Amino acid sequence: MGDLRDHWDGVYAARPETAVSWYQARSVRSLAYITAAANKDAAVIDIGGGASTLLDDLLERGYRDLTVLDVADVALDKAKARLGQKASRVSWIVADITQWRPPRQYAVWHDRAVFHFLTRAEQRKAYVAALLAGTAPGATVIMATFALDGPDTCSGLPVQRYSPRTLAAEIGPPFVLTDETREMHTTPSGAQQPFSYVVFRREVN
Ligand SMILES: C[S@@+](CC[C@H](N)C(=O)[O-])C[C@H]1O[C@@H](n2cnc3c(N)ncnc32)[C@H](O)[C@@H]1O
Repeated sequence: MGDLRDHWDGVYAARPETAVSWYQARSVRSLAYITAAANKDAAVIDIGGGASTLLDDLLERGYRDLTVLDVADVALDKAKARLGQKASRVSWIVADITQWRPPRQYAVWHDRAVFHFLTRAEQRKAYVAALLAGTAPGATVIMATFALDGPDTCSGLPVQRYSPRTLAAEIGPPFVLTDETREMHTTPSGAQQPFSYVVFRREVN
């Protein structure tokens, strides 16, 4: 994971987390989907959560089984520093999602702007293998990627853009699309980036 980790650590070390293009003061849509899907005892994992404030808001609402995975420990260190003592209530994992084997299952799997960096079929296959191992039937999967008319790069890396339909085809059964939203994200520099938010429910194995 060396090169990937160096890249993302460098991105987070270069500027404040409030200045990265994907920054949101609050993860409003993700929060709404997560709180609608699961109660406070549910195991929630944020894949590629970086320094997002999603965790802050879930902790604030009483969620107590929270995990964040990211390849960049610089990003996770920023989130931990912001959370202070509350950081000890979160499980932190530094890993490349395409090489990670989940040690347990999560009721909610959230990914905003990570899957779209997987431009090679074997990376996406590995991600879906982790998703299958990390969820059970009944789990909710919330994914946000750049929409088909979104940017084709982010942070100097190429991305694969999706509509809800093409993302559903990529993720495949047993994940069934249950909700979708198009959202226009405004970056800190004022650019407009359309995202596809898609919610899946895991059916049988
Ligand atoms: C565009 S940022 C999104 C961060 C966060 N989800 C948000 O919405 O604020 C992408 C994040 O995914 C992480 N990342 C990229 N590739 C990854 C991989 N293969 N495995 C784990 N994390 C990865 C990066 O370090 C970065 O924090």
